[in-house]
Amino acid sequence: MQPSDPPLLPEQVLQARVAELAEYVSRDFAGCSASGGCELTVVVVLKGALFFAADLIRRLSVPVTVEFVRAKSYEGTRAGEAVDTAFLFTSSLEGKSVLLVEDILDTGRTTSAIIEQLRRQTPARLALCVLLDKPARRELPMVADYVGFTIDDQFVVGYGLDFEERYRDLPGIHVLVDDEAESGT
Ligand code: XMP
Ligand code: MG
Repeated sequence: MQPSDPPLLPEQVLQARVAELAEYVSRDFAGCSASGGCELTVVVVLKGALFFAADLIRRLSVPVTVEFVRAKSYEGTRAGEAVDTAFLFTSSLEGKSVLLVEDILDTGRTTSAIIEQLRRQTPARLALCVLLDKPARRELPMVADYVGFTIDDQFVVGYGLDFEERYRDLPGIHVLVDDEAESGT
């Protein structure tokens, strides 16, 4: 298996869309500050959302704090049944505005499990931002507030997304294709 050439979403296309998403988020959370009681906390889902979140956060024009949660549900290209989460928080989300940043919304199980646990901390507001949405595979009725791109039901890698921990470093998003299909043999 290897990443398609050309990419499904090249670096420039990704970066332009991230800039747009940052504008929407900044507009919707304008006026939030620590003193105003609605400080924005960006919760980044590791590892996949690492690069997307780093680019998004740096383009926001509102002050933020950043927290991390690690989630794992995939083995190879197949969704695992159980979602394993570990919250690496340094402060409570109580009363805060929270933006959960995820790489991809697929079946919805991972995001749903994380949101359920975040709600227990009683944030004042909770919004979901995903780079990619694969609605064809949805099992739970999850809808993101901000979506970068809606894609077909295909396994993608790059810009944080991995296949067995590889390809996260690619600057664009590629479909994972088998070697024979790619070489035409
Ligand atoms: P669920 O099904 O819980 O899945 O919504 C979300 C998580 O599954 C991973 N995922 C992918 N990872 N390429 C990847 O590298 C994909 O096409 C893909 N689809 C789902 C991802 O980690 C996400 O957090
Ligand atoms: Mg993964």
